[in-house]
Amino acid sequence: MIFLTGGTGFLGSYALAQLVERTDASFALLVRARSTAEAEERLWHHSQLHWTAEEFWRYRSRIRFVHGDLHADRLGLDAERWSELAGEVTSICHIAASLNRKSEKACLNTNLRGTLAVALLGRAAADRGRLARFTHVSTVAVAGQRSHEVVEEDAAIDWERSDYDPYGRTKKFAEHMVTQMLPDVSRVFLRPSIVMGDSRFPQTTQFDMVRSFCELAQLPLVPLDPETRLDIVNADWVGEAIARLHLEKKPAFERYHLAAGENAPRARDIADALRGTSLGLRFAPRLAPGFGVLVRGMNRLPRGNAAQAIGALLKVFWPYIVYDTVFANHRATEALGRPPAPFPAYCAGLFEWATSRRYTYPHIPLARP
Ligand SMILES: NC(=O)c1ccc[n+]([C@@H]2O[C@H](COP(=O)([O-])OP(=O)(O)OC[C@H]3O[C@@H](n4cnc5c(N)ncnc54)[C@H](OP(=O)(O)O)[C@@H]3O)[C@@H](O)[C@H]2O)c1
Repeated sequence: MIFLTGGTGFLGSYALAQLVERTDASFALLVRARSTAEAEERLWHHSQLHWTAEEFWRYRSRIRFVHGDLHADRLGLDAERWSELAGEVTSICHIAASLNRKSEKACLNTNLRGTLAVALLGRAAADRGRLARFTHVSTVAVAGQRSHEVVEEDAAIDWERSDYDPYGRTKKFAEHMVTQMLPDVSRVFLRPSIVMGDSRFPQTTQFDMVRSFCELAQLPLVPLDPETRLDIVNADWVGEAIARLHLEKKPAFERYHLAAGENAPRARDIADALRGTSLGLRFAPRLAPGFGVLVRGMNRLPRGNAAQAIGALLKVFWPYIVYDTVFANHRATEALGRPPAPFPAYCAGLFEWATSRRYTYPHIPLARP
């Protein structure tokens, strides 16, 4: 049985769809829901990108919900259910996290206390001799503050380096914690870069980063050096990588960047791809230093103000947009037999769809059989 966290989230839905379709395994999904019906609704929220309602109900028979919370001791399970679960689980795929870059508290509780609880479950399963794999979905943000670099997997964590935000800091320590607590377990750490959209269709259910890019692209002048590299990957490639590396009997490495790497597009490649759309990009690199100050100022405006919302979004992502740093992806590319899709190949469709939909997905209510 595969125990999976974050299945109700964006990337978790991609990984779960791949895991379900590639195996006949059964799954235990940690879900924050009071009832089975609520858990099903939450799972359907993102999984409707991948499955029809019919497929959902077909796969549902292999999925069991573990009603719990990463913030609670033993994930909110009583001692008996915890022990039962530890006896059934044969691998763990930990995807859940708080991506709230502004909240120390959310990152501490979800990414540290939550990962500790999942690692303790892993420890209990391993002590019963049952745990074949612990996969931890991390982030390239563990590499901390960087500038104009190509970062290799084994050089990403540098404890002397500062982090951009509590998200990067807590995900970095979470990797360390899992390594320390499960030294005898086959571990895989997967670090996606900026995940945006699906290379196969324009629809997406996650909008934060998409919106930041579209807001930037709608400015009369974009305060970016056109030569800045932007490490962006397609969710379909990342989801497949998580599933395949989780299932791989003997992965060649312990750490993988799920990133665009040295082939990451430059800002001007994205501008070229958007030519002819409503999102023409004109660069003004000399405005860049002042723009950081402007974004911080917009973020301080009263809540509810449209400029505040844009400032808040851009403020958290701005360092990751201008740092011109990419993450070597040879390991994952070799494991999958192909690189991620180039972002310029699909960004025009994604951005046009997202702006026309005002950054909302046309959710279909779950039809019950
Ligand atoms: N998206 C990206 O661009 C990106 C890039 C690099 C790395 N990553 C990593 O990929 C992973 C997934 O990210 P995502 O984009 O899919 O995020 P997401 O859509 O926000 O999903 C987060 C998931 O974590 C679950 N979760 C949060 N707090 C929880 C708690 N207290 N108890 C139980 N579950 C909880 C959420 O459950 P609810 O449905 O109950 O909220 C949801 O299923 C994270 O580890 C993230 O660090 C993402």
